[in-house]
Amino acid sequence: GAPVGVDISKLEPGQKITVEWRGKPVWLLSRTPEMLKNLPKNDAKLLDPKSEVEQQPKYCQNENRSIKPELLVAVGICTHLGCSPTFRPDLAPADLGPEWLGGFYCPCHGSKFDLAARVFKGVPAPKNLEIPPHKYLSDTNLLIG
Ligand code: FES
Repeated sequence: GAPVGVDISKLEPGQKITVEWRGKPVWLLSRTPEMLKNLPKNDAKLLDPKSEVEQQPKYCQNENRSIKPELLVAVGICTHLGCSPTFRPDLAPADLGPEWLGGFYCPCHGSKFDLAARVFKGVPAPKNLEIPPHKYLSDTNLLIG
């Protein structure tokens, strides 16, 4: 499949959009400073906090799993059986518990991922969500693929 260009100039902090690349949904989430500050707090509860399993390009093998800290680019397909997790940026919601700092929740079998698309321990999904190859063509233009 061909690379897909995305204009990210209108993406607001906290907003998530989805684009299609090779028939897959790719999420772009503009993370707020608070969201970024909370990421390390999840580390002890995650299966692969340092992203050691090859689920991302080398340039995204960092705490935020991204090139620029604020922009998460991830394939929105659960690594369990392929459902699409829902965006749950809300803090401590009743159904996800008081320690939930925002993330993605898969309604099919309950897998949980943080806002760097890293999987929590104790859920069916075996890996972090995939980060697709991507690069910035300019501050406002991203190329996926
Ligand atoms: Fe997501 Fe099973 S497909 S938890």
